[in-house]
Amino acid sequence: MSIRPAKHPLESAMEAAVEAARWAPSVHNTQPWAFSVSGEEICLKADTDRKLRVEDASGRELSISCGAALFTLRTAMRCHGYEPVVRVLPDPDRPSLLATLRPGSETNPDETVRMLAEQIERRRTHRAGFADVPVPDQLIDRLVKAAAAEGAELTPVRSPAAVDVLASLTRAAQGVQSQDRRFSLEVIRWARPPGSSRDDGVPATGYPRHAVRTDPDFPQRDYAWRHDWGGEGGRDPGLGVVALLTTAGDGRADWISAGEALQHVLLHAAAYGVSAAFHTQVLEMELLREFLRREICSGAYPQMIMRLGVTFDDTTSVRRSLSDVTG
Ligand SMILES: Cc1cc2nc3c(=O)[nH]c(=O)nc-3n(C[C@H](O)[C@H](O)[C@H](O)COP(=O)(O)O)c2cc1C
Repeated sequence: MSIRPAKHPLESAMEAAVEAARWAPSVHNTQPWAFSVSGEEICLKADTDRKLRVEDASGRELSISCGAALFTLRTAMRCHGYEPVVRVLPDPDRPSLLATLRPGSETNPDETVRMLAEQIERRRTHRAGFADVPVPDQLIDRLVKAAAAEGAELTPVRSPAAVDVLASLTRAAQGVQSQDRRFSLEVIRWARPPGSSRDDGVPATGYPRHAVRTDPDFPQRDYAWRHDWGGEGGRDPGLGVVALLTTAGDGRADWISAGEALQHVLLHAAAYGVSAAFHTQVLEMELLREFLRREICSGAYPQMIMRLGVTFDDTTSVRRSLSDVTG
């Protein structure tokens, strides 16, 4: 019988951090990341083979997804007792290397870090209306602070007129995309049929078969596309709180910090029973995104459009295994 030597706590912490980062949200659950661990460094790389070539030609959504993975790495590392030391885009000659993370000084994770870490695997995207339960203003204030801590701005959209504009833009973008074969094929490519053994893409249990429309209506992406796919639930029509995540700039570093802010907001919200539904179709169409930037975002760059609310529906998601995302 061979007895394996116990892992050093640092080695366990690094492995646990990568394991956790797999659970970050990503556009269409493309999971466009790869991690490598060498010595005391974790490298987070973009897996550009998983980029959405039609919806996301610039790689903005890919970078936001990887930014969410970076925040997850940081949180897990802290929870395992090490202050992360991060360098974003550390090497201009290696554009797909998005960040490196090294364990810094030892730390005692506080209650907030533990609370966020607990939500990493539990948090789920919602794709329908919300229950008639208000989201407390105090929580929204904390989410605004969470986004600011990562260099982005979360703005709850309180004016009904602005909410209407956002809903109309979403309907316009969804209408155009659903008529465009290239967009439709990309959504179909990442929609996971019931019973599929794939470990990426949006599973049919990730959205309800028949959802009640919100008022105003923010259409969902059509992952079921002519199939009778979807889970139960979706009876609640609540709109929730519409919110925009913006950044002052629009380069790769801004997209990565938008992703970090997104995951900080989502984990904090999840800890208080609040989920997010996303409507990012508008942001994939240059003219509509520019209109939104000028008319609603006071010149800041919109990175995510979401509704925040309470749901009692269960949805599920999948992830690739640790060995698939490490090399
Ligand atoms: C940049 C980005 C854009 C997204 N856009 C949408 C969207 O428009 N509609 C949607 O239903 N989900 C959207 N999502 C959520 C992903 O589909 C979701 O994170 C992924 O399927 C994994 O599921 P989970 O979040 O439940 O773990 C987006 C996520 C990211 C990071």
